[in-house]
Amino acid sequence: MLNLKPVNRILSILCQIIAVSWTSDAYTSMQEIDPNSKYTCKGPLGEFPACACNEMDLEISCINAQFVDTDVFKNVPTYYKGISKITFHGNNFQDLPDDPLFGENVVLDGLTVLNISANYIVNLNSKALRGLPNIRILDLSNNEIVLRPEDVYFLSHTPKITHLYLRRAFTSLVNRTIQFDLMVRMFYNGKLHNLQYIDLSFNYLTSVPYNLPCPFPALTKIDFRQNLLQSLAMNTSCLQGIESIDLSRNHFNDLDKNFRDNFANSVPANSLLMRNSFHCDCNSADYIQWIRSTNAVCHSFFPLKEQSTREKVAIICIYSESP
Ligand SMILES: *[C@@H]1O[C@H](CO)[C@@H](O)[C@H](O)[C@H]1NC(C)=O
Ligand SMILES: *[C@@H]1O[C@H](CO)[C@@H](O)[C@H](O)[C@H]1NC(C)=O
Ligand SMILES: *[C@@H]1O[C@H](CO)[C@@H](O)[C@H](O)[C@H]1NC(C)=O
Repeated sequence: MLNLKPVNRILSILCQIIAVSWTSDAYTSMQEIDPNSKYTCKGPLGEFPACACNEMDLEISCINAQFVDTDVFKNVPTYYKGISKITFHGNNFQDLPDDPLFGENVVLDGLTVLNISANYIVNLNSKALRGLPNIRILDLSNNEIVLRPEDVYFLSHTPKITHLYLRRAFTSLVNRTIQFDLMVRMFYNGKLHNLQYIDLSFNYLTSVPYNLPCPFPALTKIDFRQNLLQSLAMNTSCLQGIESIDLSRNHFNDLDKNFRDNFANSVPANSLLMRNSFHCDCNSADYIQWIRSTNAVCHSFFPLKEQSTREKVAIICIYSESP
């Protein structure tokens, strides 16, 4: 019985502490009614609820903010010099500026991720990425890019890029021959010697630039998903480091013989993902036979490899020869 008293004292002190901290919580939550207000940006970006600035993670994002003027980027270095990840997605910029995006003479050397996807960007401009020397991940997906000769140095300021996302990035309305030529020049000028991954999915491509992999000595993965490819020809001497190519959802009825003989036949099993419906005609026999004989091709990178092997072996192409 004698021992109870101090215990009671302790309990009552604990209760007080809890009560105090509970009321102070209640007090703060009355002050900050908006739970996201801790992500309110400093400076002019703070006026846009679509923008969130996370100072702990050094991240800024403005999603569906409807910005039209790229001058909005110039607010970033004033308040967030050490920022590491920037996402502006769902705006309507049309063109990147013909001077550096974040301002003349600005260097954001902590910036490693720049995501400017889905902004209706048409023209890139060669100086836009100047002052961003440490970008590793660049996402330009879901834009309407049309390359011009004056854009071919666009990637020349960001030599450390490892991942380049160009998913549904180009408009399909302009002459592809010319666009491919400019694209490959832009890639060569970029000297992207660390690039490991390039995403060119969803671009309505009926062919790909023959020397596409050549500017990228470290390239290991290519994503060509959801294009209109019927065949694939690439310079095989530049494909030596490639570990996987995703060719799903195209219209393949053949793969270039040189590509098969000098690349596909020597890659590890399941390096080529080909989730395609099989087109079949009098000329398909050779290709179908190859598909059945190779283990380079699979229908799912994982986890259904065994099943896909069975499916592949089950492919039978029946065609009637003309009498
Ligand atoms: C870029 O941002 C969009 C929108 O938030 C997101 O869906 C996409 O995955 C991001 N890209 C990368 C490479 O993280
Ligand atoms: C595209 O441009 C090339 C090179 O100028 C030209 O030879 C070709 O005919 C053009 N293609 C179309 C479809 O206009
Ligand atoms: C293929 O790539 C090699 C190595 O970069 C190059 O020397 C050769 O000219 C290329 N072939 C063609 C036909 O472009």
